[in-house]
Amino acid sequence: MGQDDRVTDRYPDEPAAEPPAAYAAEPEIEPIVERAAAQGPTEDLAHDPAEMRAHYRAEGLDASSLAAVPMEQFARWFEQAAQAAVAGMIYEPNAMVVSTADADGLLSSRTVLMKGYDAQGFVFYTNYESRKARDLAVNPHISLLFPWHPMARQVIVTGTAHRTGREETTAYFRTRPHGSRLGAWASAQSSVIASRAELDTAYEQLSARYPEGSEVPVPPNWGGFRVTPRTVEFWQGRENRLHDRLRYVAEPDGAWRVERLSP
Ligand SMILES: Cc1cc2nc3c(=O)[nH]c(=O)nc-3n(C[C@H](O)[C@H](O)[C@H](O)COP(=O)(O)O)c2cc1C
Repeated sequence: MGQDDRVTDRYPDEPAAEPPAAYAAEPEIEPIVERAAAQGPTEDLAHDPAEMRAHYRAEGLDASSLAAVPMEQFARWFEQAAQAAVAGMIYEPNAMVVSTADADGLLSSRTVLMKGYDAQGFVFYTNYESRKARDLAVNPHISLLFPWHPMARQVIVTGTAHRTGREETTAYFRTRPHGSRLGAWASAQSSVIASRAELDTAYEQLSARYPEGSEVPVPPNWGGFRVTPRTVEFWQGRENRLHDRLRYVAEPDGAWRVERLSP
């Protein structure tokens, strides 16, 4: 059985929500910065991004090989990205850039972890009082971008975001490590705070109240968003910048049209 068959077999009944434990673990942030610094100078490369040229020799992407629906095609690519992650070639393939706009059309972007996907779309979790959530409350239009650079791939989604139900949020919250559950309570995400100490104190007070092993309730201002896609572009880097770009577009009757875009 081929790899794509395996993915298709799983789809759509069984959402491939959780990334494998190999990279779901809490990332080691500082050691990476230190290890990179130990490499020494970058010979001015960092000062001249125009000289950072990767040559893409990837296989092409053809409409005839695409899945019938974009979430199934996403499942195929995400499976491959997850394999690349387990092989250490890519880091956190479920990290995506989420862009929102406020009521005046002012844009903002940030990285968020995609925590589930299925036939209905993509799910992420955040603070409902954060900037992104406030944007989405007045303007549900959203863009997601999965930057799988080592694979010369990106997936770009546009659509609308709506809050997940409380039950779904609670089920996910219970899967989070104890410290992350406390963190969700401790942080009034996106608000200006006086100092780091303020945050640490809030966390310490919460840890005293909810020691390891105790049940941490779901914060009322925290939960998920499900992004219903309207367009999904699969971008595959090719030689000479003649990349493949195939975009699914939702038709009013619910069917999907696929169009090729010039690179
Ligand atoms: C790799 C990575 C993963 C992140 N995952 C999340 C996430 O799942 N949910 C979240 O609310 N913020 C996440 N963040 C933090 C966001 O980038 C952002 O700082 C935060 O959500 C506040 O954004 P806002 O003020 O624009 O709403 C992540 C950041 C990084 C770098």
